[in-house]
Amino acid sequence: MRLDKFLVATGCCTRSVAKKQVRAGAVLVNGQAVRSSDQNIDENADTVTYCGAKVVYRKYTYIMLNKPEGYVSATEDTRDPTVLELIPAEARARGMFPCGRLDKNTLGLMLLTDNGELAHKLLAPKSHVSKTYRFKSKFPIDEADAKRFENGLVLEDGYETKPAKIELDSTAMGGYITLVEGKYHQIKRMLEALDNKITYLERVSFGPLTLDGELARGEWRYLSESEIEALEAH
Ligand code: URA
Repeated sequence: MRLDKFLVATGCCTRSVAKKQVRAGAVLVNGQAVRSSDQNIDENADTVTYCGAKVVYRKYTYIMLNKPEGYVSATEDTRDPTVLELIPAEARARGMFPCGRLDKNTLGLMLLTDNGELAHKLLAPKSHVSKTYRFKSKFPIDEADAKRFENGLVLEDGYETKPAKIELDSTAMGGYITLVEGKYHQIKRMLEALDNKITYLERVSFGPLTLDGELARGEWRYLSESEIEALEAH
Protein backbone atom coordinates (compact mmCIF):
# COMPACT_ATOMS: atom_id res chain seq x y z
CA MET A 1 0.00 0.00 0.00
CA ARG A 2 1.20 3.54 -0.69
CA LEU A 3 2.54 5.28 2.41
CA ASP A 4 0.18 8.28 2.11
CA LYS A 5 -2.81 5.93 1.72
CA PHE A 6 -1.65 4.02 4.76
CA LEU A 7 -1.41 7.20 6.86
CA VAL A 8 -4.88 8.28 5.78
CA ALA A 9 -6.38 4.82 6.29
CA THR A 10 -4.99 4.60 9.81
CA GLY A 11 -6.46 7.98 10.71
CA CYS A 12 -3.13 9.78 11.17
CA CYS A 13 -3.88 12.63 8.78
CA THR A 14 -5.28 13.64 5.43
CA ARG A 15 -3.43 12.88 2.23
CA SER A 16 -2.15 16.46 1.83
CA VAL A 17 -0.85 16.54 5.42
CA ALA A 18 0.74 13.11 4.87
CA LYS A 19 2.72 14.50 1.94
CA LYS A 20 3.98 17.42 4.03
CA GLN A 21 4.81 15.31 7.07
CA VAL A 22 6.71 12.80 4.95
CA ARG A 23 8.67 15.61 3.31
CA ALA A 24 9.41 17.07 6.74
CA GLY A 25 10.88 13.73 7.86
CA ALA A 26 8.14 13.04 10.45
CA VAL A 27 7.42 9.58 9.06
CA LEU A 28 9.80 6.66 9.58
CA VAL A 29 9.54 3.28 7.90
CA ASN A 30 11.50 0.63 9.79
CA GLY A 31 13.39 3.39 11.57
CA GLN A 32 14.40 5.27 8.41
CA ALA A 33 12.99 8.66 7.44
CA VAL A 34 11.41 8.46 4.01
CA ARG A 35 11.01 11.43 1.69
CA SER A 36 8.33 10.31 -0.69
CA SER A 37 4.74 9.64 0.32
CA ASP A 38 4.02 7.55 -2.77
CA GLN A 39 6.53 4.92 -1.66
CA ASN A 40 4.99 1.48 -1.19
CA ILE A 41 5.08 -0.22 2.18
CA ASP A 42 3.98 -3.62 3.42
CA GLU A 43 1.31 -2.68 5.96
CA ASN A 44 1.50 -6.11 7.58
CA ALA A 45 5.28 -6.28 7.96
CA ASP A 46 6.79 -2.77 8.01
CA THR A 47 6.90 -0.63 11.15
CA VAL A 48 5.75 2.92 10.51
CA THR A 49 6.09 5.76 13.01
CA TYR A 50 4.30 9.06 12.61
CA CYS A 51 5.54 12.03 14.67
CA GLY A 52 7.27 9.57 17.00
CA ALA A 53 4.30 7.22 17.58
CA LYS A 54 3.96 3.75 16.09
CA VAL A 55 1.09 3.53 13.63
CA VAL A 56 -1.13 0.50 14.09
CA TYR A 57 -2.56 -0.81 10.85
CA ARG A 58 -6.16 -1.90 10.93
CA LYS A 59 -7.98 -3.61 8.17
CA TYR A 60 -11.11 -1.56 8.85
CA THR A 61 -11.91 2.10 9.31
CA TYR A 62 -14.27 3.57 11.90
CA ILE A 63 -15.56 7.12 11.96
CA MET A 64 -17.61 8.96 14.57
CA LEU A 65 -19.83 11.60 13.01
CA ASN A 66 -21.90 14.25 14.76
CA LYS A 67 -24.86 14.04 12.41
CA PRO A 68 -26.57 17.32 11.61
CA GLU A 69 -30.23 17.76 10.72
CA GLY A 70 -31.32 17.16 7.12
CA TYR A 71 -28.95 14.29 6.27
CA VAL A 72 -30.18 10.76 5.72
CA SER A 73 -28.27 7.78 7.07
CA ALA A 74 -27.95 5.94 3.79
CA THR A 75 -25.19 5.41 1.26
CA GLU A 76 -27.21 7.06 -1.51
CA ASP A 77 -30.43 8.93 -1.84
CA THR A 78 -32.08 10.68 -4.76
CA ARG A 79 -33.68 13.48 -2.71
CA ASP A 80 -31.58 14.28 0.36
CA PRO A 81 -27.88 14.57 1.16
CA THR A 82 -26.48 11.48 2.87
CA VAL A 83 -24.16 11.26 5.87
CA LEU A 84 -21.50 9.90 3.50
CA GLU A 85 -21.21 13.37 2.00
CA LEU A 86 -19.85 14.57 5.34
CA ILE A 87 -16.85 12.23 5.45
CA PRO A 88 -13.72 12.51 3.31
CA ALA A 89 -13.54 11.00 -0.17
CA GLU A 90 -10.77 8.60 0.95
CA ALA A 91 -13.09 7.09 3.55
CA ARG A 92 -16.01 6.92 1.10
CA ALA A 93 -13.79 5.14 -1.38
CA ARG A 94 -13.25 2.40 1.20
CA GLY A 95 -16.93 1.53 0.99
CA MET A 96 -17.96 2.91 4.37
CA PHE A 97 -21.60 2.92 5.40
CA PRO A 98 -23.60 4.09 8.43
CA CYS A 99 -23.89 1.48 11.18
CA GLY A 100 -27.60 1.77 11.92
CA ARG A 101 -30.02 4.54 11.12
CA LEU A 102 -30.99 7.89 12.51
CA ASP A 103 -33.97 9.79 11.13
CA LYS A 104 -33.29 12.72 8.83
CA ASN A 105 -33.95 15.18 11.64
CA THR A 106 -32.22 13.27 14.41
CA LEU A 107 -28.83 14.63 15.43
CA GLY A 108 -25.75 13.24 17.06
CA LEU A 109 -23.63 10.14 17.23
CA MET A 110 -23.41 8.09 14.08
CA LEU A 111 -20.83 5.35 13.57
CA LEU A 112 -19.60 4.73 10.03
CA THR A 113 -17.44 1.79 9.12
CA ASP A 114 -16.42 -0.59 6.35
CA ASN A 115 -16.50 -3.54 8.76
CA GLY A 116 -19.70 -5.28 7.70
CA GLU A 117 -19.29 -8.16 10.11
CA LEU A 118 -18.94 -5.93 13.18
CA ALA A 119 -21.80 -3.68 12.05
CA HIS A 120 -24.01 -6.73 11.59
CA LYS A 121 -23.13 -7.93 15.08
CA LEU A 122 -23.74 -4.54 16.69
CA LEU A 123 -27.09 -4.14 14.96
CA ALA A 124 -28.36 -7.69 15.58
CA PRO A 125 -31.40 -7.56 17.91
CA LYS A 126 -29.86 -10.19 20.16
CA SER A 127 -26.81 -8.00 20.82
CA HIS A 128 -28.99 -5.53 22.80
CA VAL A 129 -26.56 -2.69 22.14
CA SER A 130 -27.81 0.27 24.16
CA LYS A 131 -28.33 3.68 22.57
CA THR A 132 -28.98 6.81 24.59
CA TYR A 133 -30.80 9.84 23.19
CA ARG A 134 -31.30 13.31 24.55
CA PHE A 135 -34.85 14.35 23.78
CA LYS A 136 -37.47 17.03 24.13
CA SER A 137 -41.19 16.41 23.96
CA LYS A 138 -44.16 18.61 23.16
CA PHE A 139 -46.03 17.81 26.40
CA PRO A 140 -44.78 16.83 29.87
CA ILE A 141 -44.31 13.14 30.56
CA ASP A 142 -45.99 12.09 33.81
CA GLU A 143 -45.04 9.21 36.05
CA ALA A 144 -47.62 6.86 34.57
CA ASP A 145 -46.26 7.50 31.05
CA ALA A 146 -42.67 7.03 32.25
CA LYS A 147 -43.67 3.67 33.77
CA ARG A 148 -45.29 2.56 30.49
CA PHE A 149 -42.11 3.57 28.73
CA GLU A 150 -39.99 1.57 31.15
CA ASN A 151 -42.22 -1.51 31.14
CA GLY A 152 -42.55 -1.67 27.35
CA LEU A 153 -45.50 -0.30 25.44
CA VAL A 154 -47.44 -1.28 22.35
CA LEU A 155 -46.80 0.72 19.16
CA GLU A 156 -49.47 1.47 16.57
CA ASP A 157 -48.47 -1.61 14.54
CA GLY A 158 -48.89 -3.92 17.56
CA TYR A 159 -45.15 -4.27 18.33
CA GLU A 160 -44.40 -4.40 22.06
CA THR A 161 -41.23 -2.51 22.86
CA LYS A 162 -38.56 -3.87 25.17
CA PRO A 163 -38.19 -2.09 28.50
CA ALA A 164 -36.48 1.26 27.98
CA LYS A 165 -34.94 3.73 30.42
CA ILE A 166 -36.19 7.28 30.74
CA GLU A 167 -34.60 10.01 32.80
CA LEU A 168 -36.67 13.18 32.94
CA ASP A 169 -35.32 16.66 33.55
CA SER A 170 -37.06 19.14 35.84
CA THR A 171 -39.45 20.29 33.07
CA ALA A 172 -40.61 16.66 32.47
CA MET A 173 -40.55 17.67 28.78
CA GLY A 174 -37.08 16.36 28.10
CA GLY A 175 -34.19 14.27 29.37
CA TYR A 176 -32.60 11.02 28.25
CA ILE A 177 -34.01 7.81 26.80
CA THR A 178 -32.02 4.58 26.52
CA LEU A 179 -33.12 1.78 24.21
CA VAL A 180 -31.65 -1.67 23.65
CA GLU A 181 -33.29 -2.06 20.26
CA GLY A 182 -33.72 0.07 17.18
CA LYS A 183 -37.06 -0.26 15.44
CA TYR A 184 -38.00 2.21 12.69
CA HIS A 185 -38.80 5.66 14.20
CA GLN A 186 -38.90 3.92 17.55
CA ILE A 187 -38.75 6.86 19.97
CA LYS A 188 -41.04 8.95 17.81
CA ARG A 189 -43.57 6.13 17.78
CA MET A 190 -43.18 5.43 21.51
CA LEU A 191 -44.03 9.06 22.30
CA GLU A 192 -46.95 8.90 19.87
CA ALA A 193 -48.25 5.87 21.76
CA LEU A 194 -48.34 8.17 24.80
CA ASP A 195 -50.23 10.86 22.80
CA ASN A 196 -47.10 12.99 22.89
CA LYS A 197 -44.60 14.16 20.25
CA ILE A 198 -40.83 14.34 19.94
CA THR A 199 -39.59 17.86 19.20
CA TYR A 200 -35.82 17.22 19.51
CA LEU A 201 -33.77 14.03 19.30
CA GLU A 202 -30.02 13.63 19.57
CA ARG A 203 -28.12 10.36 20.02
CA VAL A 204 -25.43 10.78 22.65
CA SER A 205 -24.18 7.22 22.97
CA PHE A 206 -24.05 3.99 21.00
CA GLY A 207 -22.83 0.92 22.92
CA PRO A 208 -19.46 1.88 24.41
CA LEU A 209 -19.16 5.06 22.29
CA THR A 210 -20.05 8.50 23.62
CA LEU A 211 -20.55 11.47 21.33
CA ASP A 212 -17.35 13.53 21.36
CA GLY A 213 -18.27 17.00 22.65
CA GLU A 214 -15.42 18.48 20.59
CA LEU A 215 -17.19 17.57 17.35
CA ALA A 216 -19.45 20.30 16.02
CA ARG A 217 -22.50 19.24 14.03
CA GLY A 218 -21.37 17.78 10.73
CA GLU A 219 -17.83 17.13 12.00
CA TRP A 220 -16.26 13.70 12.21
CA ARG A 221 -13.16 11.99 13.51
CA TYR A 222 -11.62 8.52 13.37
CA LEU A 223 -12.26 6.35 16.43
CA SER A 224 -9.37 5.99 18.85
CA GLU A 225 -7.70 2.63 19.42
CA SER A 226 -9.47 2.23 22.77
CA GLU A 227 -12.86 3.01 21.22
CA ILE A 228 -12.27 0.40 18.50
CA GLU A 229 -11.24 -2.18 21.07
CA ALA A 230 -14.33 -1.42 23.18
CA LEU A 231 -16.58 -1.80 20.13
CA GLU A 232 -14.96 -5.06 19.06
CA ALA A 233 -15.25 -6.44 22.59
CA HIS A 234 -18.90 -5.46 22.88
N1 URA B 1 -35.92 6.79 17.35
C1 URA B 1 -36.48 7.65 16.46
O1 URA B 1 -37.69 7.87 16.45
N2 URA B 1 -35.66 8.24 15.57
C2 URA B 1 -34.33 8.06 15.54
O2 URA B 1 -33.64 8.65 14.70
C3 URA B 1 -33.77 7.18 16.47
C4 URA B 1 -34.57 6.56 17.37
